[in-house]
Amino acid sequence: MLANKSILLVIAGGIAAYKSLDLIRRLRERGARVRCVLTGAAQHFVTPLSVGALTGEKVFTDLFSLTDEQEMGHIQLSRAADLLVVAPATADIMARMAQGRADDLATTVLLATDKPVLIAPAMNVRMWNHKATQRNLAQLRADGVRVVGPNDGDMACGEYGPGRMSEPLEIVAAIEAFFAGGPLQGKHAIVTSGPTHEPIDPVRYIANRSSGKQGHAIAGALAALGARVTLVTGPTSVADPVGVDVVRIETARDMLAACQKALPADIAVCAAAVADWRTEGEATQKLKKGGGPLPKLSLTENPDILHTLSARGKKRPALVVGFAAETEKIVEHAQAKLKKKGCDWIVANDVGSGTGTFGGDSNAVTLITATAADKWAKASKQAVAEKLARRIADHFSGVET
Ligand code: C5P
Repeated sequence: MLANKSILLVIAGGIAAYKSLDLIRRLRERGARVRCVLTGAAQHFVTPLSVGALTGEKVFTDLFSLTDEQEMGHIQLSRAADLLVVAPATADIMARMAQGRADDLATTVLLATDKPVLIAPAMNVRMWNHKATQRNLAQLRADGVRVVGPNDGDMACGEYGPGRMSEPLEIVAAIEAFFAGGPLQGKHAIVTSGPTHEPIDPVRYIANRSSGKQGHAIAGALAALGARVTLVTGPTSVADPVGVDVVRIETARDMLAACQKALPADIAVCAAAVADWRTEGEATQKLKKGGGPLPKLSLTENPDILHTLSARGKKRPALVVGFAAETEKIVEHAQAKLKKKGCDWIVANDVGSGTGTFGGDSNAVTLITATAADKWAKASKQAVAEKLARRIADHFSGVET
C-alpha cells in the first residue's frame, strides 16, 4: 500500500505517456498522492486536463509560471514528494538528466530534488541500444537513479526489442519495493542466469540446457528484499524480473566481463549454466557439410565465473553462492564443489532424469554451507528463490540457521 506516500510523476513526451494515465490510477488506488509535471512534448501525447482529472491535483507544465511560483515554487515542488518517478523516461529526458540540464520545469525539479528518483525508460529499440543512451543510463545509475524496465516486445514504431515502457503495475511494484525498504537495502547483488552460447560458426553454438527460470527468480527475489540487483544473463525467453538491472550476454567470456564490470558487490549468486568449453578458433563462415571430411572441433576451457568471483581479493563479494546440478551423490559432490570453487554456499539441485528440473517450474535443492547441508522440500522455482533470498538476508543480519 502507498497510503500517505506522495509521488511526483514527471511525464515526458513519448507514445508510452498513455500508460502513465493508468499508472496514476493504480497509484491512487493504493492511496498515494500523485502530482504531475508534464514536459512540453508530453502535452502532445496526453493533456493536462486528463492528467489533472485523474490526479485530482493541479498539473505543472511551465517553469516560468508566475501563478505556480506564488502557489508552490519549483524547488518546493521537487522536495514535497517522497519519490520522483519519470514515466515515460524518453531518451531525451535521460540525456538531459545525465547532463544535469535544467531547461524546463521537469529537468529543473529533477535537478533540484533531494528525493530519490525512479525512471521507467521508453523509446525505440535503436535509441535504447545507442551508445549515447547506454552512456547516459550508466551515468544516471551511478548518480543513484533507480531504473525499472524497459521490457522487450512489439513497439508502437513497428520494431521489436527492448525499449517498451514497463507496464503500470510493474512500475507500481518497483515503487512499492522502494517504499518497503527491505533487509537487503543498500546491498548490491550480482546474479548470473541462463545458458551461455559458445559459437562454433556464425550459425551453430555449444550450450547447456537452461531456461533461466531459477536465476531470474532469484534476481527478482533479492530485489524484492531491497537489494540493487545486476542480472547478467545468457539468452533466455524468461521475462526480466521487476526492479533489476539486466545485462544480456552470449558467451562465458562476456558473462565474466559483465560480472567484473558490475563489481563491487556484496552478494554474487551464480545460477547460470555456463558452457564449460568453447571451440578454439570460431569459424568465420558457416561450416559446410557433404563430401569432405567431418569438421574437427578443437575445444578450449571457458573461464569459471564462480571460481573467479570467489577468489577476487579485496573485491570479493562478501557472500558468493554457486549452484551444482547433480544427478547422483548430490551432497557429496556439492560439498566437493564448494571447496573447489572457493564459494561460501552451494545450492545443489537434482537434475536427474525424471525430476523435471530442466525447463520445469519446480526444483528440489539442498543448501550446502561450510558446516551444514539443509535439504529443502521440493517447491516452485519462485518459492526456492524467495527462500534463498531470505537466507541471504538472514546471513547479513547475523541470523544463521
Ligand atoms: O563446475 P560446474 O559447472 O558444475 O559448477 C556449477 C557452478 O559454477 C554454477 O554455480 C555455475 O553458475 C558456475 N560456473 C561458472 N562458470 C563456469 C562454470 C560454472 O560460474 N565456467
